[in-house]
Amino acid sequence: AVPAGCPAHTSSAAVPPAPELFTWEFATDPYPAYAWLREHSPVHRTTLPSGVEAWLVTRYADARQALADSRLSKNPAHHAEPAHAKGKTGIPGERKAELMTHLLNIDPPDHTRLRRLVSKAFTPRRIAQFAPRVQELTDRLIDGFVEKGEADLIHEFAFPLPIYAICDLLGVPREDQDDFRDWAGMMIRHGGGPRGGVARSVKKMRAYLLELIHRKREDLGDDLISGLIRASDHGEHLTENEAAAMAFILLFAGFETTVNLIGNGVHTLLNHPAERERLQRALAAGDSELLATGVEELLRYDGPVELATWRFATEPLTIGGQRVAEGDPVLVVLAAADRDPERFAGPDTLDLSRSDNQHLGYGHGIHYCLGAPLARLEGQAALATLLTRLPDLRLAGESGDLRWRGGLIMRGLRTLPVEFTPG
Ligand code: HEM
Repeated sequence: AVPAGCPAHTSSAAVPPAPELFTWEFATDPYPAYAWLREHSPVHRTTLPSGVEAWLVTRYADARQALADSRLSKNPAHHAEPAHAKGKTGIPGERKAELMTHLLNIDPPDHTRLRRLVSKAFTPRRIAQFAPRVQELTDRLIDGFVEKGEADLIHEFAFPLPIYAICDLLGVPREDQDDFRDWAGMMIRHGGGPRGGVARSVKKMRAYLLELIHRKREDLGDDLISGLIRASDHGEHLTENEAAAMAFILLFAGFETTVNLIGNGVHTLLNHPAERERLQRALAAGDSELLATGVEELLRYDGPVELATWRFATEPLTIGGQRVAEGDPVLVVLAAADRDPERFAGPDTLDLSRSDNQHLGYGHGIHYCLGAPLARLEGQAALATLLTRLPDLRLAGESGDLRWRGGLIMRGLRTLPVEFTPG
């Protein structure tokens, strides 16, 4: 018999068993597991598939605080056990590589200097001027499959759109953009780890970017790479390596995220016919308000970035009442925080006109997504154009049969087969 009041007994009787993380079921629908964690183990120690031990932060209030906590470093040098998995931790930047000293792997004061420099080139004005080009790309991609009456929206639409957009913005000549498409495809297929084909793709991309920066330096243009070369802060410029790492992170951070914003967004809308019809009616009436709030809600409801990128404790600290040791990795689970009932009313309901929607889909604090205005532009153009040009768009097959990528940081579909009346 178990003694009355035994804490182990009372808690195990009251609490349903802990869910298994990182399985197929979890990759398909992680939200029930996140609800359990928020409720029963909000700052949860787990062993990741790579073997690395890390804390998962799942409540909104803790997540927001952790994202802005300067005691949590982005620099993988602060990881207590970098040798633990002999360099196979899957933590980008843990193995020395020039392109990896970018914004998401550094802290102030370096981060402050680099972010200030890139912000001078990557301005909201530049993005706004880019809107007609994004619309043209969106229409051209839809033209490519509209006659067929069917398409895989990931491969034929969500995947090429952001890569061509960011290449155009950076100033990669059109004739070289298919190489970028192939390199990026290699990275997304293999989950971004620096292995085999991925390592080769990163190497090729780096060599290409350094060469391009060289050429632009001789002949400055109106593009973002020229802007990066021109940008100066108190007379200081980016070095060539810093400019290449910056171009790389813009490509890398702006690519798979946007693929998944479009993929997850269309998938969610097709599974919520009433909300989708509401949006189609608003678009037909020329009202773009619901499109703007709707894309934010799609980010909150099933966003592209499931976990924020790595952070490491630089000193012992407490998160949500849990002691975290110096050197421990901390992963902020944006997807869990954005469904927290303490912060969002009816968090599991999709409401395209949700107000008071301060989701964490773009992060928070000094690493807040630099590309958010571009992501919004692409996401809004993609969804509005698809729903307007293919009004009877529907899934070809069952939603439950779709396969999710199951990576650690990102959440996204491998394929999204759809049908529609050919146009
Ligand atoms: C940072 C999300 C699109 C460039 C971030 C972070 C998140 C995020 C969550 C913070 C990560 C952290 O703190 O660990 C998204 C989502 C996108 C998107 C959901 C699409 C829907 C883009 C695009 C670009 C971009 C299109 C650029 C072309 C960046 C950069 C950073 C960043 C450079 C690092 C900023 C810094 O460390 O100061 N993004 N992103 N993102 N994002 Fe995005």
